[in-house]
Amino acid sequence: MTIQTIKTTAYNDQKPGTSGLRKSVKHFKKPDYLQTFVQAIFNTLEGIEGSTLVLGGDGRYFNREAIQIILRMAAAAGFGKVLLGQGGILSTPAASNLIRKYAALGGIILSASHNAGGPEGDFGIKFNGRNGGPAAESLTEAIFATSQTIEEYRIAPIQPIPLDKTGHYELAGMSIEVIDPVDDYLELMESLFDFDKISALLQSDNFKMRFDAMHAVTGPYAHRILEERLGAPTGTVLHGAPLANFGGGHPDPNQAHAKELMSLLYARNGNIDFGAASDGDGDRNMILGKHFFVTPSDSLAILAANATVAPAYRNGIAGIARSMPTSQAPDRVAAKLGLPCFETPTGWKFFGNLLDAGRITLCGEESFGTGSDHVREKDGLWAVLFWLNLLAEKQDSVENIVRKHWAEYGRNYYSRHDYEEIDLKAANELFSTLQDQLPELAGKTFGKRTVSSADNFAYTDPVDGSVSKNQGIRILFADGARIIFRLSGTGTQGATLRVYLESYEADSSKHDQDVQEALADLIETAGQLARIEEFTGRETADVIT
Ligand code: G1P
Ligand code: ZN
Repeated sequence: MTIQTIKTTAYNDQKPGTSGLRKSVKHFKKPDYLQTFVQAIFNTLEGIEGSTLVLGGDGRYFNREAIQIILRMAAAAGFGKVLLGQGGILSTPAASNLIRKYAALGGIILSASHNAGGPEGDFGIKFNGRNGGPAAESLTEAIFATSQTIEEYRIAPIQPIPLDKTGHYELAGMSIEVIDPVDDYLELMESLFDFDKISALLQSDNFKMRFDAMHAVTGPYAHRILEERLGAPTGTVLHGAPLANFGGGHPDPNQAHAKELMSLLYARNGNIDFGAASDGDGDRNMILGKHFFVTPSDSLAILAANATVAPAYRNGIAGIARSMPTSQAPDRVAAKLGLPCFETPTGWKFFGNLLDAGRITLCGEESFGTGSDHVREKDGLWAVLFWLNLLAEKQDSVENIVRKHWAEYGRNYYSRHDYEEIDLKAANELFSTLQDQLPELAGKTFGKRTVSSADNFAYTDPVDGSVSKNQGIRILFADGARIIFRLSGTGTQGATLRVYLESYEADSSKHDQDVQEALADLIETAGQLARIEEFTGRETADVIT
């Protein structure tokens, strides 16, 4: 078969952000926009000839069309085989697992994670390498550089293949296996957790759970694992059918966007004991108890403190890592267990080297991401199963488990305030205003707290020595409190300012405060220092988690 070479014009805006290239669907539909980026990936990779590529996405609008294009380009590039999720579906952690398990060269995951979908929504594409993890910065930069000089792309003139049945196809010298997206992932989860115990819990009359798949990718995974395999009653999984526009919702598992789940867990006479949700591509998780929200930072700390309940971690863990803005709750667990605790920049890719080197077992981010060395992505359902394993072992409520943890380690009050779609220029001015103040902040007192240091976070990877600068402005207080400012690297409209607030309380008689009240003085200080209202035009944040 002759491969077609199509002339094209390079784009100059294909720079991958925190997690791949993310743009509006409209943007992706510009002439050859997707093709140019895919060709940039293929031109940058080494060792394509005869190798395996994993391919799938979160089912959002444009997923199916994009898959057909990528299949044809993969054939033209010389891949030997593509492992494709049935229906074009693969959750991000399931794709990571497939890459590792079948020794693929890498995978292309089509997702804009928690961003809205549909013709007016967003689309995204990310490349994961041999270890199953997001491409390192050096690779994404090389892809970006290549994308700016692309003059043509190569494509095999083959017909679309049926996506909805499992099966085997041979096209232009490349084989395509359309595989069940859940099978391998289920097998992995069975190897990590005590399924008998979890199953008994889910089938007991005293325990009720709801899992909100938010009409996104985890629907098929949750139906199969929680309801079919573990025997949770039908109806445990809400919004389980993946829809191209996520039912018009925002597939982001937090208190603001998982409204129905929140109202079930917070119902006055409600009887649901455990609630959980996952995002568009299945890598995020939210954990809820009855009338109780577990911050993702606490969740990581609690899973680390109790890791040995799960068969996979029975012999203990090697270390913990958290992204810089994530609360310091995990650090306290690491200190008590005598384990190393690493502080990395925001984004899962920074955990890859530590996981590969065996220096950490668990890691997480405040942005509803938790994971371990079982794959190289955060993993929503893994976190849910881990919590179920913990609940089954402790025979206690979510709230009690968290409160006991605070009593032992102290409580890190924590919240993130997001100012969305603000003017890019104003955002930059806000940051330079902050940056200018950094040298003079140490020693200054704001209300009851004194600044101990202030800087712009830079990270040196302890494994390969690479340095990542400008990873967020940190204002650290002597009492352990922190204010952190960052600009989002995943938004597609204007700029999003994220302000992260944390304070520490050791005294368990003071663990019952309202979070926003406990952080009120820090919120005020953050507003003053960054002149937030002046630069954003907003009195309060748009989204508070
Ligand atoms: C956000 C989160 C970050 C996460 C990323 C991908 O990135 O803050 O922790 O890794 O999404 O899920 P941001 O928009 O802040 O750059
Ligand atoms: Zn995601």
